[in-house]
Amino acid sequence: MGTDGSAWIVSRTARAPSNIAVIKYWGKRDEDLILPLNSSISVTLDPNDLSATTTVSTSPDFDADRLWLNDKEVSLSSHRYVSCLKELRDRATDVKDEKTGIVITKEDWKHLKLHIVSKNNFPTAAGLASSAAGFACLVFTVAQLMGIKESFPGELSTIARRGSGSACRSLHGGFVKWEMGKRDDGKDSIAVPLAEHHEWDDLRIVICVVSSRQKEVSSTSGMQESVQTSPLLHYRAKEVVPKRITEMEEALSKRDFSSFAKLTCADSNQFHATCLDTSPPIFYMNDTSRRIIGLVERWNKSEGSPQAAYTFDAGPNAVIFVPQKSGGALLHRLLYEFPPPEGMNLSSYVVGSTELLEALGIDKLEDIRSLERPIESPKRDEGHGELAYLICTRPGNGASLCE
Ligand code: DP6
Repeated sequence: MGTDGSAWIVSRTARAPSNIAVIKYWGKRDEDLILPLNSSISVTLDPNDLSATTTVSTSPDFDADRLWLNDKEVSLSSHRYVSCLKELRDRATDVKDEKTGIVITKEDWKHLKLHIVSKNNFPTAAGLASSAAGFACLVFTVAQLMGIKESFPGELSTIARRGSGSACRSLHGGFVKWEMGKRDDGKDSIAVPLAEHHEWDDLRIVICVVSSRQKEVSSTSGMQESVQTSPLLHYRAKEVVPKRITEMEEALSKRDFSSFAKLTCADSNQFHATCLDTSPPIFYMNDTSRRIIGLVERWNKSEGSPQAAYTFDAGPNAVIFVPQKSGGALLHRLLYEFPPPEGMNLSSYVVGSTELLEALGIDKLEDIRSLERPIESPKRDEGHGELAYLICTRPGNGASLCE
């Protein structure tokens, strides 16, 4: 404790990215430990564009664990927070804070309380999965503060997994596999890095944030309903995904965009088919989502090979992968078919990296109106505002300390 008995505070700040699955996790075999029915593979998104930043502080003055998410206090009483914090406290070690010289022992951590302040760098209202980045960041930051060392590879990911299954994949950068594991205690259900983001450097990602009016079924309850009622989900987990995981690993190791694209689209479509096969059926995609699928499918068909790949999670937003050289052409098609809502400026409609706008030679709204019709696109209708905005990003690094 403080050498002169005065109050002190010790903190750490870290950042963790969102991730998007290209082979989807949908369905648990153990609800409490969050063990999945199948392995999954994801791409980590550049934390500069989509991440959570979390500061965790401890002080003898704090009398309870507390959490603030995007400036609003949130209760830590839910089972998921309780189990993550317990698992972390159980692994805390003796630490000496370099800045203050304060020494905190393993024993002290049992009683010391935490204040956790977390913020996303993207609008929460956008309906982009933020729980993955949030839980990964919370677990990573607390582990740094408490000096936790992994006693087996992937141990930290088993804790992030207890917060939200997909969170375990956000600890790593690049391309990540969540091994479903076989054990009942979940020790082998871990995230493993497959390749760093710079190993496949020319991949670009455009996220289409679709305006949505309806409240969606949460992933957690949606997948519970699918496990209980969808025969397709069980067939998928047993017969389809194991083969696709192997094929996706091969596509990634060869940087084979064509196979990557086919697998990504097929797996997204099958995931949404299992949602439709659920009773009552769950609809995450809407008409705009389906128009985006149409745009990509038409383009791929007209070129005779995959130019881009789409994937959708538990909501209507599209995530589109494209090789850098075709990024401008993708943006051309998106802006042609989905011009910005009336009165919106270009920099609010296309956010994140400006690389693709530059490749397309667009720097003002009027340029969008004069875009030529892509050969395979239907005649432009006058509909505006189906997309809220676009985020141009790329694969990126995993969780890291900010100091
Ligand atoms: C469609 O990780 O949000 O995004 O484990 O219940 O917290 P819980 O669910 P969550 O589910 C993510 C489902 C998905 C596919 C994926 O990310 O693999």
